[in-house]
Amino acid sequence: MIKKGIILAGGIGTRMSPLTKAVNKQLLPIYDKPLIFYPLSILMLAKIKDILIIVNKGQLGQYKKLLPNGKNLGLKITYLEQDKPRGLPDAFVIGKKFIGKDNVAMILGDNFFYGQNFTQKLLKCAKLSSGAKVLLHNVQRPELYGVAKIDKKNKIIKIVEKPKKFVSNYAVTGLYFFDNEVIDYAKKLKPSKRGEVEIIDLLNNYKRGNRLSADFIGRGGAWLDTGSIEDFYKTTAFVQAIEDRQGLKIACIEEIAYLNKWIGLKEIKKSIKFYGNCNYSNYLKKLIN
Ligand code: G1P
Repeated sequence: MIKKGIILAGGIGTRMSPLTKAVNKQLLPIYDKPLIFYPLSILMLAKIKDILIIVNKGQLGQYKKLLPNGKNLGLKITYLEQDKPRGLPDAFVIGKKFIGKDNVAMILGDNFFYGQNFTQKLLKCAKLSSGAKVLLHNVQRPELYGVAKIDKKNKIIKIVEKPKKFVSNYAVTGLYFFDNEVIDYAKKLKPSKRGEVEIIDLLNNYKRGNRLSADFIGRGGAWLDTGSIEDFYKTTAFVQAIEDRQGLKIACIEEIAYLNKWIGLKEIKKSIKFYGNCNYSNYLKKLIN
């Protein structure tokens, strides 16, 4: 089982300026909680407790106010800073020591996933012992993402970053599972035309060795993008619609930790005190009553 996870929460969020001038994008709200809670919840649902969060230089203080060390969640949270965005695979170079000799999952700090049985899928993916695995999802505008072409047996035959010519409608989502070789592959990558190392180049290294596999989120699941302001608000509307209807929260990290039996009443009470008198705390109160 993969036991370590990385959340890449760097980036300058240019497309969302001026919102992102003073505050990192992953700390902005998706409905009733900061964006970072959503990718964090995904790693927690995959039963990953040892988590590295990579943040921009100078923004560590903002994150530590919100998620000091993970103790209240039964997690071990480590922070590392990235001085400038060098591309997604840079996370494995920065996180080399954290990863050590283990396999690792990585999720992009701005990716939102939701769906029936998604936890089962995550647990299955986290079983990866060698190679790499990606999660694909059908999208209307594949040219905005990494895209994979698959054959009848769901084997990846081609994987391209933001293709100008149509390849397929399967976007490569921002959740990846890698064996330990990812560190060596990442170190050897050369920057692309946009001046950054590319996750697709890294995945192509695995593909060449016939070591890349794919799973699908499926039609009943959602993968939403929070890259632009429009998409940010669409994601907020999605969370609001579901939470208000069901009375259950998406990505309530304390609830997940509690249901995973990583924490008990004591920690939940501490969290209620930490968040103060708010709707989120009321939800936690209901959970333990
Ligand atoms: C990055 C990856 C792309 C992937 C996307 C998922 O794109 O390069 O392959 O499909 O994340 O969110 P970027 O956000 O850098 O445009």
